[in-house]
Amino acid sequence: MGLFSFTQELAMDLGTANTIIIQNGKIMVDEPSVVALDNRTEKLIAIGAEAQRMQGKTNPNIKTIRPLRDGVIADFYAAEQMIRGMIKKISNNNHVFAPSLRIVVCIPSGSTEVEIRAVRDSAEHAGGRDVYMIYEPMAAAIGIGLDVEAPEGNMIVDIGGGTTEIAVISLGGIVSNKSIRIAGDDLTTDILDYMGRQHNMKVGERTAELIKINVGSAIVTLEDPPEDYVVFGPNRMTALPMEVPVTYQEIAHCLDKSVSKIEMAVLSALENTPPELYADIVRNGIYLAGGGALLKGLDKRLQDKINIPFHIAEDPLHAVAKGTGIALNNINRFKFLIR
Ligand SMILES: Nc1ncnc2c1ncn2[C@@H]1O[C@H](COP(=O)(O)OP(=O)(O)OP(=O)(O)O)[C@@H](O)[C@H]1O
Ligand SMILES: [Mg+2]
Repeated sequence: MGLFSFTQELAMDLGTANTIIIQNGKIMVDEPSVVALDNRTEKLIAIGAEAQRMQGKTNPNIKTIRPLRDGVIADFYAAEQMIRGMIKKISNNNHVFAPSLRIVVCIPSGSTEVEIRAVRDSAEHAGGRDVYMIYEPMAAAIGIGLDVEAPEGNMIVDIGGGTTEIAVISLGGIVSNKSIRIAGDDLTTDILDYMGRQHNMKVGERTAELIKINVGSAIVTLEDPPEDYVVFGPNRMTALPMEVPVTYQEIAHCLDKSVSKIEMAVLSALENTPPELYADIVRNGIYLAGGGALLKGLDKRLQDKINIPFHIAEDPLHAVAKGTGIALNNINRFKFLIR
């Protein structure tokens, strides 16, 4: 490692819900994609988990922003601040000199030219000198450990915070893909609305997400059911404190419509799959990645409906980031990296 030619190499999964950075195969940053800015000066106050703790609790001087919506950058300035801040978290501990930075960032497979440009620009503005991009389902497949270069069809369903991406991969390329803007965030909103409508309780986004993580379910009969989740909050009418035990069955009903949309998208992706690859997929099964893959009973529901085995990636929240890290190590070999 020459002192003056040192290149720092990072792989980044810039997600709607979480941003993960990998260096030398190790997860160095794993934080919610949130920034807190000074409302007047736009100066950065906090990023990641620290900024998330401020969400819904800010005073007029501070605002919290999620820079990505539906898988793409919605607030360019906030995104750049966030990327810069997260990279700094790694560099600060390691180096005295700012090294030249090579970075691989993943992007949704349905990205438009403009959206790809936005990711590239913010990575460059944040210090990236050598920026490559990779499509997220491709990264997920690599992270899961599939041989993406083989003449063999594999289907990935990545359910993130903002988008559900379904892609068929063969011979190092994406054969077909379908992306819908129904994912984890929408399930959280379903629960937030439901708590108000059904229980007259006002809950914030964070509480609704915790309900989803604890008792969220895609089916009404789970083999290993979770205990009821007790939620505290104000009555919507009287503002008096109340306590509601929430069952997984009621949340399964409340999520049914959105889960159906995901189901329909998988079916439609299968419809558009060429027959030889279809046969591979039936044999290999379909791989679920992204935080949404952790929704209880989802694999079983899809399997029963579609009649193809579904496998949950070993570490669904990190599959895309891991694959991006592997792509970074094979930058000269993997032809599907976008310059
Ligand atoms: N146990 C769980 N059950 C259900 N949903 C979960 C669970 N754990 C996390 N999630 C959800 O997964 C989502 C985050 O997943 P992930 O980190 O893969 O998204 P992302 O990559 O940031 O988003 P995107 O890929 O859409 O840009 C959130 O909506 C979160 O609430
Ligand atoms: Mg993602």
